[in-house]
Amino acid sequence: MYEFSSSVNSVHSEDIKLLMKLSSGKSMISFAGGMPNNDLFPVKEIDEIYNSLPEGIKKLCFQYGPTSGYPPLVRSLQAYLKDKGLPVDTNKILISTGSLQAISIITQEFVNRGDLILTENPCFVGALSIFETYEAEIHGIQIDKDGIDIEALKQKIASLEKIPKLLYITPNFHNPAGIIYTPERKKALLEVLSNSGIILIEDDAYSDLYFREDEKYLTKPLKSYGVNDVEIVYTGSFSKILGPGFRLGYMLASEEIFEKAENIKQALDACTSNFMQILANEFLVQDKLYPYLGFLRQEYEERKNILQISLKKYMPKEITWHEPKGGFYVWLRLPEHINSTEIFRESVKKGVVFVTGRTFDPESIKDDRLRLSFSNMPKDTIEKGVKILAEVIKTVFDNTKINS
Ligand SMILES: Cc1ncc(COP(=O)(O)O)c(C=O)c1O
Repeated sequence: MYEFSSSVNSVHSEDIKLLMKLSSGKSMISFAGGMPNNDLFPVKEIDEIYNSLPEGIKKLCFQYGPTSGYPPLVRSLQAYLKDKGLPVDTNKILISTGSLQAISIITQEFVNRGDLILTENPCFVGALSIFETYEAEIHGIQIDKDGIDIEALKQKIASLEKIPKLLYITPNFHNPAGIIYTPERKKALLEVLSNSGIILIEDDAYSDLYFREDEKYLTKPLKSYGVNDVEIVYTGSFSKILGPGFRLGYMLASEEIFEKAENIKQALDACTSNFMQILANEFLVQDKLYPYLGFLRQEYEERKNILQISLKKYMPKEITWHEPKGGFYVWLRLPEHINSTEIFRESVKKGVVFVTGRTFDPESIKDDRLRLSFSNMPKDTIEKGVKILAEVIKTVFDNTKINS
C-alpha cells in the first residue's frame, strides 16, 4: 500500500475519467462529449500548412521553445485578442498546454490548502478537479439564464470568514449551462469584485462559437471592459476551434501574475509543444482561422437547431431548457423529484449517454439537470438520440408516480 498525497482525492477527476470513456464509446449515441466532431477538424488545412513550411521551421517543430510560448504565436495571439478588445499592450500572454494548464497554473500560483475558491454552480468539471487537487475549499454560487446570481455572490462573500482567493467563471456559452452572461450581469459582477482582493479567472473557451453575427457583441470579455480595480486573468483555448488534440491554450494576465506563472510552467513542462504552436500560428497568420470559424459556427448551429426541434417534439412538458446562442451545450432541467443519475442508469441500457447534473455541482449533490452536448453528434443521429432519451425520461416519470 502506498501513502499517496492528499491531492489525489479529487472526486471530480473520477467523474472526468468516466466522461472521457463515455464520450469515446463507439456503440453509444453520445450526448456526453464536450468536444468537436472528428469530421469537422481542419485536416486538409493542417496538411497544407505543414507541407508548405520551410525546412528550418519544420526542424523547429521538433525543438524545445521559450517557456512563455513560441514568439510568433504570441504575436499572432496579441492581434487576435486585441480584436476582442483585450488589453494586450498592458498584459502578457503565456501559452499553456491546454487552457486547463493555464487554470492549474493560476491556482498553483495563489492557492494554498484550505484557501477559498468561488465558482459558479454548475461549474466546468475540469476546473473543479483542479481546485480539488490543490485542496481548496470550493463554494459554488448559483447561476441563472443571465449569469452568476449577484445577490447570492454578495451574500456568500459577506458570510465567509476569509477573502476567497479566486472566482472562476465561464461567462460565454457556459459549460454545462449553455448560457451567456448579459452585458449588465458582467458589469454588475465587476462592481461586486471591485477592490475585493478576489482574482477573477475568466475562462473564455467558447466565445468564437456564437451562432448569430448580431449577437457577437454579447461575447465581449469582462477583461475588455477597462475596469482597473478588478484583477482578471483571462484564459483561452484552441481546443474548441482547432481541436483538443492540439493541447494549446493561453492566459492573458498582468505582468506580475505572468512572471510567477512562467516560473510555475517552467517546472511543469518547460514549454508547450513547438509543433502545435507552429501549426496554430500558421493557421492564424495565413488567415485560415476566421473562414474556418465561419464554417464551424454554421455546423454547430445546425446541430443545435436539430436538437432544439427534437427536444420540442419529444420531451415531456415538465422538461425545460434555455436555447443556447452559441457553444456546445443544452442544460435540461428536470422536475425536482427526479434526478439525472437515475435517468442515466436507464438511458445507458438503451444506448444513449449524457452527463449528469451532479457532475458539475462543486458538492456533487445537486442532480436535477442533465447536460446534452450537440457538438460531437452526427446530425442524422440527434433526433434518434433525443427520442430514446425522452422515452426513458417518460418511463422514469411514470415509475416515480407509481411509487409515490
Ligand atoms: C469551460 C472550459 N474551459 C476549458 C476547457 C478545456 O480546454 P483545454 O482543452 O484547452 O484544456 C474546456 C473543455 O471542455 C471547457 O469546457
